[in-house]
Formats: sequence, C-alpha cells, structure tokens
Amino acid sequence: MSYRVGPADQLPEGEGLLVEAKDSGAAEDIAVFHAEDGNFYALADECTHEVASLSEGWVEGCEIECPMHAASFDLRTGKALCLPATVDARTYKVDVVDGNLELDI
Ligand code: FES
Repeated sequence: MSYRVGPADQLPEGEGLLVEAKDSGAAEDIAVFHAEDGNFYALADECTHEVASLSEGWVEGCEIECPMHAASFDLRTGKALCLPATVDARTYKVDVVDGNLELDI
C-alpha cells in the first residue's frame, strides 16, 4: 500500500519526520529521513533498544543516532551499528513521486 507523506522539499537534508502510519493501517509508525547523501530513507520509528522515536534523533551522513541512548542505525539498511542496540531496524521503501514522498507500507 502506498502512503503519501507530503512534499519532499519540506523535509530538509539532515532532518527526520515522524509518519503516523499506524493510524492508516500500517504495522507501526515510520520515520522518514533526508540523509546527507541527498536521498530519503525510512525506518520503523521506534528504536529497537527501548522506547524512543528515531525521528527525533540526529542524522549523521547516512546514519541516525537514537536520542535516548545514542545507538545508531544505518539509514540504508537499518543495521544496528553500535550498542546499546543489537537488533536491526526495519526499513521501508520511500520514493519521490511528482515531488511527494511516498512510503510503501
Ligand atoms: S532507546 Fe534507542 S538507544 Fe536506547
């Protein structure tokens, strides 16, 4: 199912955005990021360590650092890159269609 997030140009590079996709039937809320490589990536919003919103974390290159205990994940693969997270984050496909971000949920 395709979920339209909004205009891609409203998510600046280095920022994340919480998409409350759960309200639209998705299994979970999703965080969309505009990485510093210029591409957009999407991960499950909830950190795999404990309860924290990755959309509120810090983008560094193509990584997101959790705001709670500083675990980081690769935005391209969801791979957990450092402790305390040991479980990879689920990734979602996000595309820019006619200037809008669209998630495949
Ligand atoms: S909740 Fe994300 S690192 Fe602990």
